[in-house]
Amino acid sequence: MPAPIPLTLPGVEEYADACTTPDSEDLLDLARLTTAEVDRPHMMVGPVEARFLQFLLTALRPARILEIGTYTGYSALSMAQVLPADAHITTCELNEDFAAIAAKHFAASPHADKITLEVGPALDTIARLSGKFDFILLDADQPHFDHYLEPLTALLSDNGILAADNTLWSGSVLDESDHRPGADGIRRFNRAVAAHPGLVSVLLTVRDGLMLIRRK
Ligand SMILES: C[S@@+](CC[C@H](N)C(=O)[O-])C[C@H]1O[C@@H](n2cnc3c(N)ncnc32)[C@H](O)[C@@H]1O
Repeated sequence: MPAPIPLTLPGVEEYADACTTPDSEDLLDLARLTTAEVDRPHMMVGPVEARFLQFLLTALRPARILEIGTYTGYSALSMAQVLPADAHITTCELNEDFAAIAAKHFAASPHADKITLEVGPALDTIARLSGKFDFILLDADQPHFDHYLEPLTALLSDNGILAADNTLWSGSVLDESDHRPGADGIRRFNRAVAAHPGLVSVLLTVRDGLMLIRRK
């Protein structure tokens, strides 16, 4: 995933950061370590989107959450912070090195019991999951984003929300001549959502674009 190009006026992202409640100390530690030692730290959702997801989860009060794309665990830990003890996050990661860092931080956090980490291709993991999820964050494998739409909406509970990250793909969704795999995959996903008669969606211009989707 390339580093996202800011989609707002110069300084707006920084201003939004400054006007947003900062990360807790443990999230700051994880973000610092990821930035210093791990490949592609821009993949973390960052504090503005993390606080937005926390607001959403606080209002929704979901019992079961599914995340596609754990990376080093920043977004999963951030979501776990606002969940009651009996709520649970299943988070999926393909890369064993990233998963090992996430697992270490989950285990050291007071939210360890709320998180299950599944290592392997997420589409395989999804196929094995049973029951419904009240909130799903899709944040991985953008070249094949559209492959996740049907299996993930099938896993949504009646009032569940699917949040799809990077749905503006640094603005490259606007350029139909850009056929890089991520741009094509995101455009196919966005078109499939818009054309789906059973879904309602809103594409928020938060960070790299966050699309919220629910059943009609
Ligand atoms: C954008 S990062 C996730 C960032 C994370 N949500 C956060 O905010 O810290 C995407 C992650 O998805 C993983 N990934 C890519 N393809 C995958 C797949 N098919 N199944 C599971 N994980 C995948 C990548 O290794 C990467 O760690």
